[in-house]
Amino acid sequence: MVTARSEKEIEVMRESGRIVAETLDLIESEIREGITTKRLDDLANEYIRSQGATPSFLNYVPKGARGIRPYPATICVSINEEVVHGIPSAKRLIKDGDIVSVDCGAFKGGYHGDAARTFMIGNVAPDIVHLVKVTEMCLTLAIKEAVVGKRLFDISAAVQQYAESFGFGVIENMVGHGIGTKMHEEPPVPNLGKRGTGVFLREGMALAIEPMINLGRSRKAVIASDTWTAITADKKPSAHFEHTVIVRKGKAEVLTLSRLKKDQPSVVAEGAEAK
Ligand code: MF3
Ligand code: CO
Repeated sequence: MVTARSEKEIEVMRESGRIVAETLDLIESEIREGITTKRLDDLANEYIRSQGATPSFLNYVPKGARGIRPYPATICVSINEEVVHGIPSAKRLIKDGDIVSVDCGAFKGGYHGDAARTFMIGNVAPDIVHLVKVTEMCLTLAIKEAVVGKRLFDISAAVQQYAESFGFGVIENMVGHGIGTKMHEEPPVPNLGKRGTGVFLREGMALAIEPMINLGRSRKAVIASDTWTAITADKKPSAHFEHTVIVRKGKAEVLTLSRLKKDQPSVVAEGAEAK
């Protein structure tokens, strides 16, 4: 069952989404060469709590998980070949040329928000800059599909088509998800799929759409011995962007937009809604 949210519920989700967006804005302003990933985690934890929310990821235990420890941090920080779920550490320093995917979730008033951005640090190689830009555009294009009357895998197909047109690999074994009173709800939102298939999208469905794209052709992410960090099977760099969105008629409502940037592709996508 895919739950459609009422306007009252969505009003609460806007607040969780705002807190997630502002936390990522804070991290964006603080992230630099030499900072530890633990310091970023502390900043996120403090900010989320200052807003009367709690971090969605901290102590999270995946459903049906065996042998996986509860997630030990507020954010996920995944560097270069790490796809998602990198665990912050006081020993891990961000370096010049890194790409750093930061994923953040916040829970307030009974509802979650979830979003991620990949940051480029200093001198990033041109092919990797291209990967990051294409991944962000994959999310923008996917959000354009999140409208009433479209089908779930129209979202997936938009990501796959754009990423593969550049020869990039779309991660297959990690997916987006419905979101609401629980962080992970029905339906799974894959990043590969066939247009015109999947459930029909209805007004008020809340989805976390999150393309994970690999510079290499491999579609596979493997889990490291820490039981969390997902790494591209071919060890090539990968990028990740995520927004929490509400399915609407004509144009999705994005709950986790940056408060800083006027020209973020996801805003451009909204403005440039198909006529
Ligand atoms: N955005 C990620 C996801 O939806 C973050 C989850 S991290 C976890 O899977 F620790 F909470 F699992
Ligand atoms: Co998510």
